[in-house]
Parts: sequence; C-alpha cells; structure tokens
Amino acid sequence: MYLARRLPPAVEAEMRRRYELTVNESDAVLTADELIAQARGCEYLIVSVTELVSAQVIAGLAPSLRLIATHSVGVDHIDLQAARAAGVAVLYSPNVLSAACAEVALMLILNAARRGFEADTLVRSGRWTGFAPTQLLGLGLVGRRLGIFGMGRIGREVAARAVGFGMTIHYCNRNRLPPGDERGAVYHAASDELLPFSDVLCICLPGGSDVVGWLDARRIDLLPQDAIVVNIARGIVVDDDALIAALTSGRIFAAGLDVFANEPDVDRRYRSLSNVFLTPHIGSATTETRDAMGFLLLDGMRAIEQGRPPPNHFY
Ligand code: DGY
Repeated sequence: MYLARRLPPAVEAEMRRRYELTVNESDAVLTADELIAQARGCEYLIVSVTELVSAQVIAGLAPSLRLIATHSVGVDHIDLQAARAAGVAVLYSPNVLSAACAEVALMLILNAARRGFEADTLVRSGRWTGFAPTQLLGLGLVGRRLGIFGMGRIGREVAARAVGFGMTIHYCNRNRLPPGDERGAVYHAASDELLPFSDVLCICLPGGSDVVGWLDARRIDLLPQDAIVVNIARGIVVDDDALIAALTSGRIFAAGLDVFANEPDVDRRYRSLSNVFLTPHIGSATTETRDAMGFLLLDGMRAIEQGRPPPNHFY
C-alpha cells in the first residue's frame, strides 16, 4: 500500500497493521512522475484530492496496481475510465463527511450574510470604537430562499440545517428527490430556473468537466439583487472573473468560498475583497470525519478482499 498524503494517526496505524505500508512522509503534493516513482510496485494506492491520478499514473503503476482509494467524496482527480480499463477498483469516502461539509456551508453562509470577515478584522485591528446602531449591517437569513445546486447527500444536509435558520429551500438536481425526501423544498429541473429563487446560492454538486465555469456572468445576472454565493463543491464551477466583478460592483452582496480553481493559488483579487469570506478547503476537516473517511476506505478494502461488495465502490 502506498499512501500519498498523511492521514489521521488512527487511520495510518490501522493501515500499517493490515498492510505493508509506504507513506509519503513529507506530505508534499507529488507530481505524476514522483507518484509513479514512489508508489511503484504498490497494489493499493491511497490518495487525496491533491493527487492527479491520470491515465499516465495508472499505466505507470501497472501491472501491480489493483485499487485506488481516495480519501474524499470527490473523484474528479481520478481518470475513472483509465482505471476501469485497467481493471483497477476505485473506492471513495462518501456519506461520512456530509454533515461536516454542511456545517462549513452554513459557516460560509452566515459569515457572508453577517460580514464575518469585516467584523473579525475590525476587532483585531484595534480600530473598533464601540457599538453603533448602523455598524456592519448585514443580511438576515429568516425568510430568505436558499438555492442548492446539487441536492445529493451534502446538499440535503445543508438544506436540513438552513431550515433551522428560517430559510426556504429551492434546489436543482439531475433527478427530483422522492417527495418524502424533499421536505418542502421546491424542485427546479434546470439550473437557470433555480437562480432567480436563490437569495443564497449554495453550490454543492460534484465537480466535473461538464460544470467548468458554470457560474458565469450570464447566470450571475439571473440571481436576485444582493444575492450571496457559496461554493463548497469545486472551484472550477465558478468563473472567477465574473464572480469578482459581481462582488466588486455590488451586483451581489457577498460570497463564501471553501474551494478554488488552481488550489492553493487562489485568485489574488479575492484577498482584497472584504465581502468574501474565504476558507482553505476545510469542508470535511473535523477529526472525527477524517477518521471516518479513512476507516470507510479500510472497510471497503476488507470487503473486496473478502469477496463482498464494498459500501463505497465508485463503480
Ligand atoms: C472531498 O471529499 O472531495 C473534499 O473536497 C475533500 O475532503
């Protein structure tokens, strides 16, 4: 087993107990060539979202490679077709991170709506002169409409929490949820139809080539005035030029972003905007969640070894 990024100690300990484990001790992100060189001969390759497991990597690790396990719910960094063609199984870690990711979505929504960055900065700067009735006025969430683009497990967890804040839920998803699961949420078959109902737009769908640059200037114009945009999916879903223009002009009120195109090289223009709240891809970053993701991968491997269908087989 080759482990390309450091995982929580309990997960690594169990991997070491069960397998002949080599760890990328430096925890640095490896290029394709480095990954092939360091993981050569492994049967199980364990990666995170930072490793690009391309057809080149899969071919470079043949013929020993039997399984790729990604410590993530997203699989957009893995060439699934190449894996399938090479007879390599792909495991991922869905479900166990949904609540943690939804918590970060709510954190971003609240900080964007209530001007969390500016508030924190004011206190830290020492320039706060005291309470004022007109200071840092934000937007309340009660009665606002939350538009969720991608109503999978994470989207549904976001919806459940937002209802508690008094929001009404609209969503767009490839398939409409069964009525019992909708819990009053309003379905829109097309994403363009969702946008006019999104006082807060939360992007929760899995990132993929079909949604690159989806939130562009035309779609931003479909949002209500003073909308808030939150992205916990993948950075590439947002056209940064368009979002930055809308934040700068005041066309939208604020944004909360946990994911970015070209991480960690975040578009520098975001740094100088006070109406955007930024977090460094921490959706699933709780101790219990990262442990659970690792143990889910281990459960899947055990299932495959015992000839049972794993609960987290991507295909
Ligand atoms: C995922 O799981 O895909 C997140 O982006 C990283 O945990």
